[in-house]
Order: sequence, then C-alpha cells, then structure tokens
Amino acid sequence: MRVLVSGGAGYIGSHTVIRLVEAGHDVVVVDDFSNAKPTVVGRLEALSGRPIPVHAFDVSDADKTEHLFAHEQIDAVIHFAGFKAVGESVAKPLDYYQNNLDSTFSLLRAMGRHDVRTLVFSSSATVYGAEPQLPMTEDLPTSATNPYGWTKVMIEQVLTDVAAADDRWRIAALRYFNPVGAHASGDIGEDPSGIPNNLMPFVAQVAVGRREKLSVFGDDYDTVDGTGVRDYIHVDDLAAGHVAALDTVNSRSQPMSVWNLGTGQGVSVLQVIKAFERASGRPIPYEVAPRRAGDIAASYADPSKANADLDWRATKTIDDMCADTWRWQSKNPNGYPDA
Ligand code: WQD
Repeated sequence: MRVLVSGGAGYIGSHTVIRLVEAGHDVVVVDDFSNAKPTVVGRLEALSGRPIPVHAFDVSDADKTEHLFAHEQIDAVIHFAGFKAVGESVAKPLDYYQNNLDSTFSLLRAMGRHDVRTLVFSSSATVYGAEPQLPMTEDLPTSATNPYGWTKVMIEQVLTDVAAADDRWRIAALRYFNPVGAHASGDIGEDPSGIPNNLMPFVAQVAVGRREKLSVFGDDYDTVDGTGVRDYIHVDDLAAGHVAALDTVNSRSQPMSVWNLGTGQGVSVLQVIKAFERASGRPIPYEVAPRRAGDIAASYADPSKANADLDWRATKTIDDMCADTWRWQSKNPNGYPDA
C-alpha cells in the first residue's frame, strides 16, 4: 500500500518508515519538523535505499492536507504527528488540545473525502490513567492525569465514534508502553530537544558525557528495588507492530480495534542503569531525587491481544535496547546534525 506517515521524521515515525519500506509498502511522509530535524530524511533514504517523498507542513492545516490527498495517491495513513511531552502539556494545555485534536480532525476529514479509510493511530499506555490494574489490558477504563494523556483518550473516543458512524473505516489505535532503543545501524534514533524528559535518552546522554549524572526520581515505590518500573519496548519492535496492524486491520470485521504494544515485562530504573552500563562499558552516575509529580510506581502491558490478533510480539530485551541506544548515541553524540 502507499502509506502516508504523519510525523514520519520523528522518533517512532522514522523507524516505522524503514519497516514499511522493508515490508514492501510505499511511503509518503508529512512532517512540520517542529520536533524533528530535516537531516533525518537523508538517513531514511540511505537506510531504505530509495527516495522518501516528504511534505513539510502541519497536518492541522486542513487546506494543505486536502491538497496533499488531492495530489498524492494514498491508500492508508499512520498518524504519529502530535505534541507528546507530559510536563509541557500541563503548562500549555490549549496548545496540546488544539494541535493534537486538530491534526487528527484534519486528517480524518481529508481521508473521508478521498475514500481513504485505513488508519493506524499512535496512542499510548498513558490512557490507562493513574493507578491502573496490572498488567494493563485493552478493556480497562481510560482516563488521564495530564492534558497530553487526555488528548490520547479524546482522540481514541473520536476514532471510536467515527468508526461507529461509518463501518467502512478500519482503524487501529496502538497503545505504546515505553518506546526506547534505535535502529541497529545507529544512524537513526531518539533525539529529544533540550533536557530529555525520558529515562533512556537521559541515561544515554550521561554515558556519552553530555550530562553529569542521572536523577533517579524516587526509590521508595513498592517495586522490586523501590524505583519506578516500566514496560520498555524496542522502537523496532514497535515499528513492526505498526506494520502488522496496518496489514491486519483491513481483514478485521470490526471498524475499530485497540492493541497494547508492550513486552509484558516490567524493568526498574536501577535495572535500566545496570543494563546501560553493561551495554556501554561506561558508568552511569546517579543520585536519588524526590519522586516526580504524576509518576506511577509500575506500568506494564498484557500484550496477548496484539500477540494473537496481529501475529506480532516484541522480541528485543532491555540489553538489546541499551546496546542499540548506545550505538546511536555514541555515533551521534549530539543527535542529528542541523544540516
Ligand atoms: C520512566 C521511569 C521515571 C527520567 C512517559 C510518558 C508516556 C510515554 C512514555 C508518550 C519513571 C524514571 C525518568 C529521569 C528517572 N510518552 N525517570 N529519571 O514517565 O513512564 O512515560 O514516556 O506516550 O506518556 O509519560 O517514561 O522515561 O519519563 O520515566 O528516574 O531523569 O524513569 O520516574 O519511573 P514514563 P520516563
């Protein structure tokens, strides 16, 4: 299929572009580069061995999105584009609601007008809210503890209602757990701007000498060693899950499906630190700091629905994730070049 990937220059989007090409799909990227560098595109073309058509605009712009659908043959859409920083969403709720919802409305409208009704949506385990039952299953109620999370809850509801109103749609909402790692080449990876909010990129920057030490946000949780436990999933496994969902969703009878993309394994902060030290051969100095507001003690998936329905499962271990992250970070100490 010819797949439009919104946010295709981003961390998960770029890895999914590679997997789509490897699976025989054609790809068109749309990205406003508000959270990605244009130099990613050259890396993608080198890795995929083909030109990657890129349209540089914000898909919230309904006119530009309509023009894209009128001039590009699109069979399906994978929608990654959106703001995704939890803390920033608390400070700028209107920006988050407007951007994340408007981009989705604009895409859905253009898709409907051009009879393109296959959609894979980038959702998140954050929709399981504060203290969810573990392991998380797709039938749990959804809620959120921050505007970013609420945008994912709301968009899932929009998609559910669009699918209920017109059963020609085939929509997959994929709830990611904690995406980490990088392509085995080390040529594409996670490149957060500014101080990383997330654990793995921060640890990688300590290892490569960009940061002095890690703050461990609390060691008094009711977990294996007191530090936060998460279900880290390799970005390549996650990308493969998107291709599996794209290839499966049209053969399902339900217009709307929801799947967890996780490993089902919980790993603590201290266990990540030890794994990264093994992978990099570098010490990761840290200090225990107060808990971070909004953090939950533990989060991990029950991935059995995706395993069965998509014939997909995560294969990479935390050691693989740290080794691939280290290869990317050590080859690109300052992330992607500006030009
Ligand atoms: C992981 C663990 C922290 C940084 C977030 C978003 C979620 C999703 C994935 C988009 C926690 C601890 C972290 C640090 C630390 N994003 N930590 N020191 O919070 O589970 O999920 O990213 O969908 O929506 O909420 O990921 O990597 O920030 O934290 O101790 O400097 O590492 O307390 O236990 P999180 P994270």
